[in-house]
Amino acid sequence: MSEEKSAPKGAEATKPAGRGWITATVLGLAIGLAASLAVGWAAFPRLLYETRRQPLDFNHKLHVENAGSCESCHAFTEDGRFPGLPGIDNCVQCHADIQGKDPSEAILVNDYIKKGREIPWLVYSRQPQCVFFSHAAHVFSPAMAKMAGVTPDEGASPGAENPAVCAACHGHDGDSEHVRPLYVNRITGESRDVYGKNIAGFAEHISDRMKMDACVDCHAKVKPKKEACNVCHK
Ligand code: HEC
Ligand code: HEC
Ligand code: HEC
Ligand code: HEC
Ligand code: HEC
Repeated sequence: MSEEKSAPKGAEATKPAGRGWITATVLGLAIGLAASLAVGWAAFPRLLYETRRQPLDFNHKLHVENAGSCESCHAFTEDGRFPGLPGIDNCVQCHADIQGKDPSEAILVNDYIKKGREIPWLVYSRQPQCVFFSHAAHVFSPAMAKMAGVTPDEGASPGAENPAVCAACHGHDGDSEHVRPLYVNRITGESRDVYGKNIAGFAEHISDRMKMDACVDCHAKVKPKKEACNVCHK
């Protein structure tokens, strides 16, 4: 008993040095691992995504104030089609000639309007070719308006003119003051807006990502039966 008790005592004298070495090694490895993970986490998106720039800057906030509504540029046609991005015919009424000092306006007038060329805007939300998406089905849906937190007026088309409905899927592009770069996944060719900001696929808001599971999850909330593949793949 007394021998056993004294043995640890003797060992204690040497242990701290031995344990210290192990602790230092483990700690060193842990720090090294954490550091390389952190570098990887920061560098991986840059390796994975290619950065593309819009042809010119555009200020949504300023234009919504001047033009009045989203519909003055993003209106549905008579037959219910959604043309998406506006053409230069939507700009010419106010920009036939340069009015201000902003270099983007000079590009707009000199390179596009005066030459009659359309602006090759990049689309953040672009889905792959195999996907069928209809804006009308969503923008005029009372269920969609409800999810966007819009209370539809009795009789009025539910939420169609309400930017909150657009924002539910698109985030805040509609009140941005500058365009942002488009990040394209080098492997899949998908936009980062579709793929999701978070590489692991976490999403807090509907607008955080728009991959197949995001479409299917939302449809499951509003449709009682599981959908056929050809609802979204024609
Ligand atoms: C004066 C015309 C104009 C008005 C008004 C306007 N937009 Fe736009 N919108 C544009 C142009 C030009 C682009 C392309 C450049 C860009 O992405 O910012 C665009 C792009 C967008 C996009 C990006 C689509 C994508 O995925 O690439 C969204 C979303 C959008 N607008 C929503 C809105 C909403 C919501 C409103 C109303 C609050 C609005 N816009 C008002 C001209 C307009
Ligand atoms: C209802 C009038 C109106 C329409 C329509 C309009 N703009 Fe403008 N735009 C303005 C005004 C006002 C300014 C501020 C002018 C200044 O710089 O003094 C402006 C400024 C700009 C600028 C410079 C500031 C910035 O946004 O970076 C750009 C670029 C521009 N517009 C692009 C467009 C494009 C592209 C369209 C068509 C999709 C368009 N505008 C349609 C009124 C309009
Ligand atoms: C249910 C989600 C959803 C809602 C709500 C929604 N969008 Fe979209 N939007 C999308 C998707 C998905 C795409 C890509 C479609 C594709 O690639 O075929 C898109 C594409 C666009 C584009 C680019 C289209 C192009 O081809 O040039 C614009 C502009 C746009 N949306 C504006 C709006 C506006 C304005 C509203 C509100 C009136 C709105 N969206 C509501 C999901 C949505
Ligand atoms: C936030 C919810 C939401 C998201 C996200 C969403 N949808 Fe929908 N979708 C709806 C609602 C609501 C309807 C209308 C359902 C109805 O009226 O029965 C609809 C209808 C449709 C329809 C018409 C089908 C029919 O039954 O008539 C298609 C096609 C569609 N969605 C495709 C897509 C695709 C593709 C995506 C992803 C890129 C998507 N949706 C994302 C809510 C959503
Ligand atoms: C509610 C809409 C919706 C339904 C229903 C749906 N998909 Fe999709 N699917 C999408 C969207 C959006 C994408 C593109 C984004 C992505 O890759 O997640 C996609 C992508 C795919 C891809 C990858 C294609 C590529 O080019 O990368 C395959 C394969 C696929 N879907 C198969 C199916 C099958 C099989 C079913 C039926 C069991 C189905 N989908 C039902 C919306 C849908």
